[in-house]
Formats: sequence, C-alpha cells, structure tokens
Amino acid sequence: MSTATGHAPGKIILLGEHGVVYGHRAIASAVSLGTTVRLRRRAGTTCMDQPWADDPRLQAALLTVLDEEGIGVQIESNLPIGRGMGSSAALAVALGRARAALAGEEASNDRIDRDAWAVERVFHGSPSGIDHTVSMSGGAVLYRKTADAPQITPLHLPPIPLVVIDSGSAGDTAAMVQGVRDRRPAVDSLLQEIGALVEDVAPQLANADLSGLGPAMQENHALLQGIGVSNETLDALVDLCMATGAQGAKLAGAGGGGIVIALAQDRKAVLDAARAAGFDAWKITIGSQA
Ligand code: MEV
Repeated sequence: MSTATGHAPGKIILLGEHGVVYGHRAIASAVSLGTTVRLRRRAGTTCMDQPWADDPRLQAALLTVLDEEGIGVQIESNLPIGRGMGSSAALAVALGRARAALAGEEASNDRIDRDAWAVERVFHGSPSGIDHTVSMSGGAVLYRKTADAPQITPLHLPPIPLVVIDSGSAGDTAAMVQGVRDRRPAVDSLLQEIGALVEDVAPQLANADLSGLGPAMQENHALLQGIGVSNETLDALVDLCMATGAQGAKLAGAGGGGIVIALAQDRKAVLDAARAAGFDAWKITIGSQA
C-alpha cells in the first residue's frame, strides 16, 4: 500500500490518576474526540510532511514505530494537546494502526499495544499504560498496572453527563509523574486512598448508580492536591463548578495544567460560569450514550 490511515480516540480519567502508576486501579473512558494519522510512502527520511505540534519528542516517537526512511506523516486531531485528554496515547494508537495498514497487515492488538507503549514511553517516561489501553479498546475500563500484563476490565458505564473545562495551560505528564515519585513515600497513603475511591465507586457505576461519583470526584481532587499535582487555576475551577451546582469536580489527567471535569445535571449553569470566567468549556457524555 502507498498510503494508509489510522484513527484512535482520546480519553478522560474519571477517577484514579497517579494512583494507577503504583498498582491501584483507575477508571478511564474513551471520548469522541480523537486523532488520525495518515502515512504516505515517499522518498527521503521518515518525518512529518506538515508541521503539527511543536514537540521535540515527536520525531523520536514516529521512529519507534516507523521505518527510518521512506514515509511521510500527517496528523490531524481535535483533541486539546497536553490537557490530560490522552492526545499522545491517541497519537500512539493511531500511528500503530496506520503502520499496520501501510504494511498491509491485519492490525493485531498485541502489535498495536507494543507500538503504543513505545510511543508513550517517549512522551511520558514510565506511564501506567491506562491512556493507550483505553484509546485502543474504546468504551470504559477499570485498569490496574501489574508487574506482568495489566488487568483490564471493561466497565459498562451508565450515561455520565460531564462538563470539561480547559484550564488554559498544558501539564507535563512525565514531570508530574516524576514529581509524585519524588514525594514518595510521604504520599503513599494518599495514593492508596485514591485507589480506595475507585474500589468504592466502580461497583456502583456498574449498577448504573451515580450517587457516589460526585463526592468521590471531590475527594479525588483533594487527594490530587495532597500529592502536589493541582494548581491554583485547577482548584479555582473545581470551586467554580461546585458553586454552580455540580455534583463533583476534579482535575483529570496528570495535573499541573490540563482540564477539570465536572459531573453536573445542569451542565448549562457550569458551562456558562466557566465561559464567563474566560475558560474554554464543553459538554461530553461518557458511558452508554457516548
Ligand atoms: C495520565 O493521563 C495519567 C497518569 O496516571 C499517568 C499514567 O497513568 O501513566 C497521571
């Protein structure tokens, strides 16, 4: 084949980021935004044919998956970059899918997983694997990293109405994960509490019971503050969501920037308040109507 395309969705982490790096479970869901990679055989060094993100790691990421010579790459994405919505994971999975298609191969999950891990390591150092796993599987998953293969449990979520608010700055996942690592063992009990929230809420969600989710999101945000990955803007956005009637709100992703997600029955009130305060905000529904 002389051209090929691969696509993959981004994600949000409903509960459990950072704890998941240390073997606690987390809940993540794919979202409807995503990334498409287009590959084209042509002479010369493999590289981007059209500029995309200004990220020095991008070329190295491409070459973990593609041959060094002979491939032109284009990337299109409607995911905000570096905002905790899995933009690098979606790129990783889409790239793996496009490579398989270009080679005329059946896209085996094992190979895409291997390629996506390699790309994620370029961007994030030592990720838990949750981001590219949910990008590969779609839907929602309960994820636990182990010393061997991760435990991945598909989770059938009820429709969950969320508002996503962009804090306006990107977070650096590798730096945030390293910061938490540097604060261990002092933060270990907080990481464990994050995992405990997931264990409490996952069975409720599987029973279509959303009553515990809002309070758990609140608690999760407080624990993320405790491990040092929130910032003033993220905290102010969580407060704004709660002041406008959200049932719960938290930063989502690695923190240090990125997004806040809010669970709200009256999403318009939260959206209007976020936009009036100058932030980009939009609605997403995850779960069975996503
Ligand atoms: C990033 O989306 C989620 C983190 O838990 C890092 C990871 O799981 O690799 C912060």
